[in-house]
Amino acid sequence: MSEPALSQVPAGVPIGAVSIRRLGPADLPQVTAHFLRLSSRSRRLRFGGVVSDTFLEQYASAIFEAVSIVFGAEVDGVLRGVTEIRGSITQWTQHAEAAISIEDAWQDRGIGDALLKRIIRAARNRGIAQLYMVCLHENRKMKHLAHKNEAILDYSVDSVEGRIVDLHPSFRSLFEEWYDEASLYLSDMVRAERG
Ligand SMILES: CC(C)(COP(=O)(O)OP(=O)(O)OC[C@H]1O[C@@H](n2cnc3c(N)ncnc32)[C@H](O)[C@@H]1OP(=O)(O)O)[C@@H](O)C(=O)NCCC(=O)NCCS
Repeated sequence: MSEPALSQVPAGVPIGAVSIRRLGPADLPQVTAHFLRLSSRSRRLRFGGVVSDTFLEQYASAIFEAVSIVFGAEVDGVLRGVTEIRGSITQWTQHAEAAISIEDAWQDRGIGDALLKRIIRAARNRGIAQLYMVCLHENRKMKHLAHKNEAILDYSVDSVEGRIVDLHPSFRSLFEEWYDEASLYLSDMVRAERG
Protein backbone atom coordinates (compact mmCIF):
# COMPACT_ATOMS: atom_id res chain seq x y z
CA MET A 1 0.00 0.00 0.00
CA SER A 2 1.36 3.43 -0.90
CA GLU A 3 2.12 6.06 1.76
CA PRO A 4 -0.58 8.74 2.21
CA ALA A 5 0.33 12.22 0.89
CA LEU A 6 1.81 14.31 3.70
CA SER A 7 -1.09 16.74 3.51
CA GLN A 8 -3.38 13.82 4.39
CA VAL A 9 -1.47 12.96 7.55
CA PRO A 10 -3.71 14.14 10.41
CA ALA A 11 -2.69 17.41 12.05
CA GLY A 12 -0.60 16.86 15.14
CA VAL A 13 1.26 13.93 13.60
CA PRO A 14 4.90 14.95 13.16
CA ILE A 15 6.38 14.61 9.69
CA GLY A 16 9.91 13.54 8.93
CA ALA A 17 11.01 15.04 5.62
CA VAL A 18 11.07 18.71 6.60
CA SER A 19 14.09 20.72 5.61
CA ILE A 20 14.69 24.28 6.78
CA ARG A 21 16.97 26.57 4.84
CA ARG A 22 17.74 30.23 4.32
CA LEU A 23 15.97 31.60 1.26
CA GLY A 24 17.27 34.16 -1.23
CA PRO A 25 16.06 36.11 -4.28
CA ALA A 26 16.20 32.96 -6.45
CA ASP A 27 13.43 31.53 -4.24
CA LEU A 28 11.00 34.36 -4.95
CA PRO A 29 8.66 32.28 -7.17
CA GLN A 30 8.38 29.63 -4.43
CA VAL A 31 7.80 32.25 -1.72
CA THR A 32 5.05 33.87 -3.81
CA ALA A 33 3.43 30.49 -4.48
CA HIS A 34 3.53 29.71 -0.74
CA PHE A 35 1.76 32.96 0.16
CA LEU A 36 -0.85 32.40 -2.54
CA ARG A 37 -1.62 28.92 -1.16
CA LEU A 38 -2.49 30.31 2.30
CA SER A 39 -6.20 30.05 3.08
CA SER A 40 -8.18 33.23 3.72
CA ARG A 41 -8.10 32.45 7.47
CA SER A 42 -4.31 32.02 7.51
CA ARG A 43 -3.90 35.17 5.39
CA ARG A 44 -5.95 37.12 7.91
CA LEU A 45 -3.99 35.72 10.85
CA ARG A 46 -0.66 36.39 9.15
CA PHE A 47 -1.38 39.87 7.72
CA GLY A 48 -4.00 41.08 10.20
CA GLY A 49 -6.81 41.40 7.64
CA VAL A 50 -8.25 40.13 4.38
CA VAL A 51 -5.60 40.31 1.66
CA SER A 52 -5.83 39.72 -2.09
CA ASP A 53 -3.57 37.71 -4.36
CA THR A 54 -2.23 40.98 -5.79
CA PHE A 55 -1.30 42.19 -2.31
CA LEU A 56 0.51 38.90 -1.63
CA GLU A 57 2.43 39.06 -4.90
CA GLN A 58 3.55 42.62 -4.14
CA TYR A 59 4.43 41.70 -0.56
CA ALA A 60 6.51 38.72 -1.72
CA SER A 61 8.31 40.77 -4.36
CA ALA A 62 9.65 43.12 -1.65
CA ILE A 63 10.70 40.40 0.77
CA PHE A 64 14.35 40.29 -0.35
CA GLU A 65 14.67 44.02 -1.13
CA ALA A 66 15.69 45.46 2.23
CA VAL A 67 18.09 43.82 4.68
CA SER A 68 16.17 40.67 5.44
CA ILE A 69 16.53 37.12 6.60
CA VAL A 70 14.03 34.64 5.28
CA PHE A 71 13.90 30.99 6.20
CA GLY A 72 11.72 28.42 4.54
CA ALA A 73 10.50 24.97 5.53
CA GLU A 74 10.27 22.55 2.64
CA VAL A 75 8.35 19.31 2.73
CA ASP A 76 9.34 16.97 -0.08
CA GLY A 77 11.01 19.92 -1.81
CA VAL A 78 7.93 22.19 -1.74
CA LEU A 79 7.98 25.35 0.35
CA ARG A 80 5.26 25.04 3.01
CA GLY A 81 6.36 27.59 5.60
CA VAL A 82 8.15 30.94 5.60
CA THR A 83 9.49 33.17 8.36
CA GLU A 84 11.20 36.50 7.97
CA ILE A 85 12.75 39.43 9.73
CA ARG A 86 13.57 42.68 8.02
CA GLY A 87 16.03 45.40 8.97
CA SER A 88 16.04 48.91 7.60
CA ILE A 89 17.02 49.45 3.95
CA THR A 90 20.75 48.95 4.51
CA GLN A 91 21.39 47.67 8.01
CA TRP A 92 20.14 45.74 11.01
CA THR A 93 18.66 47.74 13.82
CA GLN A 94 18.29 46.90 17.52
CA HIS A 95 14.64 45.95 17.00
CA ALA A 96 13.10 43.81 14.29
CA GLU A 97 9.72 42.26 13.60
CA ALA A 98 9.37 38.57 12.87
CA ALA A 99 6.47 37.04 10.97
CA ILE A 100 5.65 33.49 10.04
CA SER A 101 3.25 31.50 7.92
CA ILE A 102 2.64 27.78 7.51
CA GLU A 103 0.25 26.42 4.91
CA ASP A 104 -2.92 25.08 6.46
CA ALA A 105 -2.40 21.38 5.73
CA TRP A 106 1.05 21.50 7.34
CA GLN A 107 0.12 23.36 10.51
CA ASP A 108 0.23 21.68 13.95
CA ARG A 109 3.21 19.49 13.15
CA GLY A 110 5.94 21.53 14.84
CA ILE A 111 7.09 23.39 11.70
CA GLY A 112 6.09 26.83 13.00
CA ASP A 113 8.02 26.33 16.23
CA ALA A 114 11.08 25.10 14.33
CA LEU A 115 11.02 28.14 12.02
CA LEU A 116 10.48 30.54 14.90
CA LYS A 117 13.49 29.12 16.76
CA ARG A 118 15.58 29.50 13.60
CA ILE A 119 14.64 33.15 13.08
CA ILE A 120 15.21 33.98 16.76
CA ARG A 121 18.71 32.54 16.51
CA ALA A 122 19.40 34.47 13.30
CA ALA A 123 18.26 37.71 14.97
CA ARG A 124 20.43 37.00 18.00
CA ASN A 125 23.46 36.45 15.76
CA ARG A 126 22.96 39.78 13.99
CA GLY A 127 22.92 41.93 17.09
CA ILE A 128 19.16 42.41 17.19
CA ALA A 129 18.46 42.89 20.86
CA GLN A 130 14.68 42.78 20.68
CA LEU A 131 12.51 40.75 18.38
CA TYR A 132 8.80 41.33 18.27
CA MET A 133 5.87 39.66 16.58
CA VAL A 134 2.32 40.91 16.28
CA CYS A 135 -0.77 38.73 16.03
CA LEU A 136 -4.52 38.97 16.44
CA HIS A 137 -6.08 38.21 19.85
CA GLU A 138 -7.72 35.09 18.50
CA ASN A 139 -4.39 33.63 17.37
CA ARG A 140 -3.94 31.27 20.31
CA LYS A 141 -1.37 29.15 18.54
CA MET A 142 0.92 32.10 17.80
CA LYS A 143 0.52 33.47 21.33
CA HIS A 144 1.41 30.04 22.69
CA LEU A 145 4.47 29.74 20.43
CA ALA A 146 5.66 33.26 21.29
CA HIS A 147 5.27 32.61 25.02
CA LYS A 148 6.98 29.21 24.69
CA ASN A 149 9.94 31.00 23.09
CA GLU A 150 10.18 33.43 26.02
CA ALA A 151 8.28 36.36 24.55
CA ILE A 152 6.57 38.83 26.85
CA LEU A 153 3.01 39.31 25.61
CA ASP A 154 1.49 42.83 25.56
CA TYR A 155 -2.23 43.06 24.83
CA SER A 156 -3.75 46.05 23.04
CA VAL A 157 -7.32 46.54 21.82
CA ASP A 158 -7.12 44.47 18.66
CA SER A 159 -3.75 42.75 18.70
CA VAL A 160 -1.09 41.15 20.85
CA GLU A 161 2.59 41.96 20.62
CA GLY A 162 5.10 39.34 21.71
CA ARG A 163 8.55 40.73 22.56
CA ILE A 164 11.66 38.67 23.06
CA VAL A 165 14.16 40.90 24.80
CA ASP A 166 17.83 40.79 25.79
CA LEU A 167 18.88 38.77 22.80
CA HIS A 168 22.61 38.45 22.29
CA PRO A 169 24.83 36.09 20.34
CA SER A 170 26.62 33.24 22.06
CA PHE A 171 29.31 30.90 20.82
CA ARG A 172 26.66 28.21 20.61
CA SER A 173 24.17 30.29 18.57
CA LEU A 174 26.91 31.38 16.15
CA PHE A 175 28.30 27.86 15.80
CA GLU A 176 24.87 26.30 15.28
CA GLU A 177 23.99 28.76 12.52
CA TRP A 178 27.34 28.23 10.81
CA TYR A 179 26.96 24.44 11.15
CA ASP A 180 23.46 24.42 9.65
CA GLU A 181 24.51 26.57 6.69
CA ALA A 182 27.67 24.51 6.06
CA SER A 183 25.78 21.17 6.27
CA LEU A 184 23.18 22.40 3.83
CA TYR A 185 25.83 23.69 1.44
CA LEU A 186 27.62 20.32 1.50
CA SER A 187 24.47 18.27 1.03
CA ASP A 188 23.45 20.52 -1.91
CA MET A 189 26.88 19.95 -3.47
CA VAL A 190 26.64 16.17 -3.04
CA ARG A 191 23.11 16.17 -4.52
CA ALA A 192 24.27 18.29 -7.49
CA GLU A 193 27.23 15.95 -8.13
CA ARG A 194 24.99 12.89 -8.08
CA GLY A 195 22.78 14.68 -10.61
C1 LIG B 1 0.70 30.26 13.91
C2 LIG B 1 1.52 29.29 13.06
C3 LIG B 1 2.74 30.01 12.50
C4 LIG B 1 1.99 28.13 13.95
O1 LIG B 1 2.69 27.20 13.17
P1 LIG B 1 2.39 25.64 13.36
O2 LIG B 1 3.36 24.90 12.53
O3 LIG B 1 0.96 25.40 13.11
O4 LIG B 1 2.70 25.47 14.91
P2 LIG B 1 3.43 24.28 15.68
O5 LIG B 1 2.85 22.98 15.24
O6 LIG B 1 4.91 24.43 15.56
O7 LIG B 1 3.06 24.63 17.18
C5 LIG B 1 1.75 24.88 17.54
C6 LIG B 1 1.71 24.99 19.06
O8 LIG B 1 0.48 25.62 19.43
C7 LIG B 1 -0.24 24.74 20.30
N1 LIG B 1 -1.64 24.95 19.98
C8 LIG B 1 -2.37 24.45 18.97
N2 LIG B 1 -3.63 24.92 19.04
C9 LIG B 1 -3.70 25.74 20.12
C10 LIG B 1 -4.71 26.53 20.71
N3 LIG B 1 -5.95 26.57 20.20
N4 LIG B 1 -4.42 27.25 21.83
C11 LIG B 1 -3.16 27.24 22.35
N5 LIG B 1 -2.15 26.50 21.83
C12 LIG B 1 -2.41 25.76 20.73
C13 LIG B 1 0.26 23.35 19.97
O9 LIG B 1 0.05 22.47 21.04
C14 LIG B 1 1.74 23.64 19.74
O10 LIG B 1 2.39 23.83 20.97
P3 LIG B 1 3.52 22.81 21.53
O11 LIG B 1 4.62 22.81 20.50
O12 LIG B 1 3.93 23.42 22.83
O13 LIG B 1 2.83 21.50 21.65
C15 LIG B 1 0.68 28.68 11.88
O14 LIG B 1 -0.42 28.02 12.41
C16 LIG B 1 0.25 29.71 10.84
O15 LIG B 1 0.96 29.96 9.88
N6 LIG B 1 -0.94 30.33 11.04
C17 LIG B 1 -1.42 31.31 10.08
C18 LIG B 1 -0.55 32.56 10.02
C19 LIG B 1 -0.26 33.11 11.39
O16 LIG B 1 -1.07 33.03 12.30
N7 LIG B 1 0.94 33.71 11.56
C20 LIG B 1 1.33 34.28 12.84
C21 LIG B 1 1.24 35.77 12.83
S1 LIG B 1 2.73 36.49 12.18
